[in-house]
Amino acid sequence: MELIPAPRAVDGPTRCGVELDEDTTLWAGPGTGTTERWLRSTLGPALGLPLTPGPKDGANSLRLCLDDELEPEAYKLSAVVGRGLEIRGGGPAGVFWGAQTLRQLLGADAFRRAPVRPGLVHGIAHRIIEDAPRFGWRGLMLDVARHFMPKDGVLRYLDLMAAHKLNVFHFHLTDDQGWRLEIERYPRLTEIGSWRARTRYGHRASPLWEEKPHGGFYTQDDIREIVAYAAERHITVVPEIDVPGHSQAAIAAYPELGNGDVVDTGSLSVWDDWGVSKNVLAPTDATLRFYEGVFEEVLELFPSTFVHIGGDECAKDQWRKSPAAQARISELGLAGEDGLQSWFVRHFDTWLTARGRRLIGWDEILEGGLADGAAVSSWRGYAGGVTAARSGHDVVMCPEQQVYLDHRQDAGADEPVPIGYVRTLEDVYRFEPVPPQLTEEQARHVLGAQANVWTEVMEDPGRVDYQTFPRLAAFAEAVWSDLPAPADRDFADFERRMTAHYPRLDALGVAYRPPAGPLPWQRRPGVLGRPIEGAPPNV
Ligand code: ACM
Repeated sequence: MELIPAPRAVDGPTRCGVELDEDTTLWAGPGTGTTERWLRSTLGPALGLPLTPGPKDGANSLRLCLDDELEPEAYKLSAVVGRGLEIRGGGPAGVFWGAQTLRQLLGADAFRRAPVRPGLVHGIAHRIIEDAPRFGWRGLMLDVARHFMPKDGVLRYLDLMAAHKLNVFHFHLTDDQGWRLEIERYPRLTEIGSWRARTRYGHRASPLWEEKPHGGFYTQDDIREIVAYAAERHITVVPEIDVPGHSQAAIAAYPELGNGDVVDTGSLSVWDDWGVSKNVLAPTDATLRFYEGVFEEVLELFPSTFVHIGGDECAKDQWRKSPAAQARISELGLAGEDGLQSWFVRHFDTWLTARGRRLIGWDEILEGGLADGAAVSSWRGYAGGVTAARSGHDVVMCPEQQVYLDHRQDAGADEPVPIGYVRTLEDVYRFEPVPPQLTEEQARHVLGAQANVWTEVMEDPGRVDYQTFPRLAAFAEAVWSDLPAPADRDFADFERRMTAHYPRLDALGVAYRPPAGPLPWQRRPGVLGRPIEGAPPNV
């Protein structure tokens, strides 16, 4: 059986089957509305199945119900000859994940948007599948700041996540190179901050520039739509608004946010280069009030318990030179510039906690001490996550060496843009979110993991697909399935199941990296395809 991610237990298959056809009815019990709507809006139209409402006991029926003996995200899918199909879920999410499994059982056509073989009867072998996720946080981070992903593309990624049973969408909305979220009280954040004049393209050390403006942003209604669309798929959207670094776009829009005593912030523009900008927020009360205003609107838009405040890679040069920043350090009795960074983080930690939310930030935020409820995204390897878990903080593992999907998928010059470590499909398959040095008690703080898609070198959605797939399928299995230790994982079996999964991705229109390596058009020879002469191989 070719399910991805692999389920916990399968009984069967036998030769006899259960059939779905135009007469199959749907009975949806209380609490199963999201799945009922998804079946009618997505799976039914793909196969031409009307799924008309029918009785609970129909022999040719698909039945959905809750079962309080199961964990909230667990499900049991039964395809029993003479009794039709039944999906029982511990909660609404469990039923929904069961429906995702049903879609895979129905074959690649179930991943299309309209039937290509209308009238066909769809058979499923008699079997019972019992399944539950290993982790509660199965995430994907998408950077829409470096390259904007228009709203339709974001909705499509939510569908792709759902198809892989991923449930946290970390939305990287602001950075030096663009501010992508409409904030009503500060219109210049998007009027000015969402566009940059030009973009370095290809390799980070490439001398090539695309001399045309790049930008875009989501209106608040776009965000409401994205959040609601995600919720229908049992996906939580965690917004990220970066402080105090990665904020040049905000400073370009509102120069008073920057360190005006050391740099002419009035002449700054949205950054057009890659790397880490030196332009960071000024440590003033006015800056805090400004961002409280931003976060007030963020909290209205995003119901997620966790709110990501960035906190990574804050360049300290300007604070070192700024008399105002130095005065602030003395006045607050802080430990130098590092103390200022923690001061920002602690302020928003307290502020979010007071509003019933929890702060999450990149692992640099550990450096200044955190409130009890704060959590850490461990990106610079596992070390930050280990420290956080040992001190009682929750952790989302996303070590760049393992699960940064902007990194190249193979050695050699054929990959479209050489960046970072080589992380093959197999490497991602062998990714283990819980490092061995944690005790069982500490390991409970590992909420799960996420794959991060940074988009400096992904100038269009096709490139995002290429970097993300098929590795996201391997990642999904690493966070959902009950796999053995990395060295003992059966990658050959995963590859075998991928032969059924590639046609599903094809039907979904995903421009994944082909198993045999990039196609010539994906290499884009002469422009994006080749490492730039003289540039270091791994930037
Ligand atoms: C990061 O990659 N700077 C979180």
